[in-house]
Amino acid sequence: MKKSIVLLSVLLSASAVEASQPAPQVVVARTTIQAFAKQLGGELKMAMKAGGPVNAIGVCNVKAPKIAQETNKEGSAKISRTSLKNRNADNAPTDWQRAVLLKFEERKAAGEDVTKMEHSEVVGDQFRYMKAIPTAEICLKCHGANIAPKIAAKLDKLYPEDKARGFKKGDIRGAFYVTQPK
Ligand code: HEC
Repeated sequence: MKKSIVLLSVLLSASAVEASQPAPQVVVARTTIQAFAKQLGGELKMAMKAGGPVNAIGVCNVKAPKIAQETNKEGSAKISRTSLKNRNADNAPTDWQRAVLLKFEERKAAGEDVTKMEHSEVVGDQFRYMKAIPTAEICLKCHGANIAPKIAAKLDKLYPEDKARGFKKGDIRGAFYVTQPK
């Protein structure tokens, strides 16, 4: 399906950042995000193809955390996703993540390109990295303001405290979060 290919490339382009001399941990963080996004994009694509977005919800809400778990097993870097308006309560931001997400919103308001927005910081013995996730057209099916009744009904059932709706194209949907030992 065309739309899912768009979704895949959106997820992939999230990791195509260039900077002159990134720290080695930044390179690891970007690679980890790329692997995660590629796998999630692939699963979503298959699910959409097999049964449309209603089916994709069912696959996604099980697969996303599982893929994160598998990605996390491979190295010392740990990946997750978070958002100021999270769908899954497990993805609610910590205070530190919330502060970065709010800063991302400020940077966007000041005209910065969301697709290239990232932040890294050493906190205690941890290297923390966050990368903004832009909202694409395809995401609106499940995160927009006018979600089809069938999809909305399923989301209501799975996520009674869902906050991840009402997004517009170009909004910051959330961020990837990667931690590594310093
Ligand atoms: C088929 C419906 C569907 C589509 C399309 C979709 N999502 Fe989601 N999204 C979900 C579901 C369901 C969850 C909750 C996953 C979980 O339980 O971990 C979610 C969670 C997320 C999260 C984790 C934070 C949170 O809110 O819990 C982010 C970030 C996210 N989606 C971004 C996107 C982006 C960006 C796109 C478009 C490229 C997109 N989604 C397209 C259904 C969808």
